[in-house]
Amino acid sequence: MNENPMVPDLDLPEAPGRSLSGVASMGHAVVSGEIDVSHGTILYLEDVTVSFDGFRALNALTLAIDVGELRCIIGPNGAGKTTMMDVITGKTAPDHGKVFLGQSIDLTRMIEPSIARAGIGRKFQKPTVFEQHPVWENLELAMKTDKGWWASLRARLDRDAQARIEETLALIGLESEARRLAGELSHGQKQRLEIGMLLMQQPALLLLDEPAAGMTDDETMQLAELLNHLRGTCSMMVVEHDMEFVAALAGDTGKVTVMAEGRVLAHGTLDDVKRDETVIESYLGR
Ligand SMILES: Nc1ncnc2c1ncn2[C@@H]1O[C@H](COP(=O)(O)OP(=O)(O)OP(=O)(O)O)[C@@H](O)[C@H]1O
Ligand SMILES: [Mg+2]
Repeated sequence: MNENPMVPDLDLPEAPGRSLSGVASMGHAVVSGEIDVSHGTILYLEDVTVSFDGFRALNALTLAIDVGELRCIIGPNGAGKTTMMDVITGKTAPDHGKVFLGQSIDLTRMIEPSIARAGIGRKFQKPTVFEQHPVWENLELAMKTDKGWWASLRARLDRDAQARIEETLALIGLESEARRLAGELSHGQKQRLEIGMLLMQQPALLLLDEPAAGMTDDETMQLAELLNHLRGTCSMMVVEHDMEFVAALAGDTGKVTVMAEGRVLAHGTLDDVKRDETVIESYLGR
């Protein structure tokens, strides 16, 4: 929520166009509907500062993510990684700075649900699925969430919706679990299901905060495979401590951002940042 009462909530209008036709369907080229990505940037943060009782959790943070990019963010505990996601999703209002989705959507002037509708999906660390419902229904419910207009188009879209659920089930590797209760799934399967639920909303940008935490090595690599597979479908920002997972996502050429003390400490390929003296001192060398 926008917690600053001085800043009006400029809510975006309902935007059926974005989700229905704007965002490319799974497996096809990138995004963008009403999000202006003409300059190639899906997310732009400039000089963002957040203070909690005088302590700067974010301190003049500047960072940009390209359309279609899978950006890994690493950094020590307390670096401000989760706070950054709170700012992007409208949970925390920055004291200062710019936060834009594409060229023209000013996220600091929007409330949380509008930001989600504008195309940002967020995965929290703990899986949040509807445990008492079958996997299939979880995906169905996720598609309907917050979509008043969807109901009215439902008759026409039913077959499309079914196809999308099936496509998503295959993507998250849960085809054979479709009829099982979500509560019966393993931790790794629940995490993939929640990602599937976010995908049903066809986000332009997916934020994942420590998605591999608590996973077995196998589950972690399955998740890396899934996220790698999503490249080109949506842009992603992945915060993670597990360096093997980061390596599986970043490969040799992907960009990794290292945060510390509320700002960017280093940025480059995983090899670049691993060799960076300041990074070794403040994080990797601990
Ligand atoms: N609501 C809050 N009130 C006060 N301090 C907060 C609040 N949220 C975060 N902080 C502080 O801001 C700093 C940054 O926290 P944040 O959770 O963003 O770090 P992080 O990089 O996500 O760390 P971790 O890797 O442990 O998840 C921490 O010192 C934290 O204690
Ligand atoms: Mg965190």
